[in-house]
Amino acid sequence: MIYAGTMRVPARLGLVKSSLLLALPLLWITYEMLHLGPSANPAKDLNHLFGRAGFYMLALNLIIGSWLAFWPLPNNLRWLFPFRRPLGVAGTLYTATHIALHFVIEGDLSDGISAIVEARYLWFGLAGFLILLALALTSNNASVRKLGKRWKKLHRLAYLAFGITSAHALSIEKADLVHFSSIALLVMLPLSARLLRYAAKHLTSARR
Ligand code: HEM
Repeated sequence: MIYAGTMRVPARLGLVKSSLLLALPLLWITYEMLHLGPSANPAKDLNHLFGRAGFYMLALNLIIGSWLAFWPLPNNLRWLFPFRRPLGVAGTLYTATHIALHFVIEGDLSDGISAIVEARYLWFGLAGFLILLALALTSNNASVRKLGKRWKKLHRLAYLAFGITSAHALSIEKADLVHFSSIALLVMLPLSARLLRYAAKHLTSARR
């Protein structure tokens, strides 16, 4: 338990609060579907919304990660640090639903696979998803213990997954370029600052 002034703030959100937070994108998806009204292809609309939810959750996770590299979290936000793992796993589940909907749209498994083989933007999607899946499967205490220092290195691949899925979203024919590149910029700016700081630190220690 962390104390923020006179307020007691848990360093970890409980299961109920975490689950409610992670279910918020479902509420947003429901709102958007109702807002869109009757659609000729609801599976396609849902595919887009679940894809966006997974993408936003990944971006948010990485932004929190970069923020943590520069500033310690204020006491009342300390729960954000342990929350990154469930956020990553939940984001991967939203993305898995996005992919399942791709197969619903295509009609069956073999048509869904053929579509992936034939379209380059879907290769990016698949590559990004495979990385996210590996990260979600190792987001447990047993893997953290087993992998030791390698766990952190492995989980840095989330940045690569973000780069590849940004390419996936941006290479769609009618992509919302401004929207997706703004999100990519939001992730890349603090990451570049981190990389610059890392390079400067290594240069000065090499000169000594
Ligand atoms: C096998 C893997 C994947 C498949 C088959 C797939 C499939 C699709 C399809 C069919 C679309 C819609 C394209 C269109 O309307 O022309 C799409 C869009 C999108 N996907 Fe994926 N995807 C995959 C992986 C991912 C991953 C890993 C993410 C993010 C974590 C992601 C996020 C998105 C986003 C953000 C969009 C754009 C949605 C919009 O414009 O509203 N996808 N994907």
